[in-house]
Amino acid sequence: MNKNIERVLLTEEEIGAEVKKAAAWLDERFAGKDTVPLVVSVLKGSVIFFCDLVRAMQTPVQMDFMTVTSYGNSSESSGLPKIVMDLAASAQGRDVVLVEDIVDSGHTLMKMKALIEGRGAKSFTVVTLLDKPSRRKVPIAADYSCFEIENEFIVGYGLDYAQQYRNIPYIGVLKREVYEK
Ligand code: IMP
Ligand code: MG
Repeated sequence: MNKNIERVLLTEEEIGAEVKKAAAWLDERFAGKDTVPLVVSVLKGSVIFFCDLVRAMQTPVQMDFMTVTSYGNSSESSGLPKIVMDLAASAQGRDVVLVEDIVDSGHTLMKMKALIEGRGAKSFTVVTLLDKPSRRKVPIAADYSCFEIENEFIVGYGLDYAQQYRNIPYIGVLKREVYEK
């Protein structure tokens, strides 16, 4: 185990099982519809989840990416998410599925929702790997979330602290001393 991880919160196996359920939920949602959803990975945090999720889906999808930053190098959201790289595709008239790593304060999701709906998407569905409901600052929720977690700072499976730990294959609680120095 990585020396800066206090304990494993979710193992690879636990994550894998929930990712399959999320994919099945999306397949069900688009079953019988003659539409190719535009599935958007909110980079960088959701990239690992996104790759596993789309590969577990049966529905044909179009993939797109958007880079949003909100943290700088701290463990607290700035409340001002910034779009660093926009979608390549137009969202106009599309069934957009936003894939998030975690909904924390909700600021990022709020911004993405306003943006994508404002571009005339036909539908907007949010799937998140993790949800920290106790941290919410703005009233918004994902349509599907794999895990609800307590208020602990976690890393791995795409999630970072200061751009590190994203390639850890499990989700672990980061030692406090790492971000409270
Ligand atoms: P929000 O805008 O506060 O909802 O936060 C959204 C972003 O903050 C997420 O997409 C993550 O990138 C990041 N974030 C929130 N909580 C954590 C955490 O516990 N570990 C790592 N990143 C986090
Ligand atoms: Mg993120």
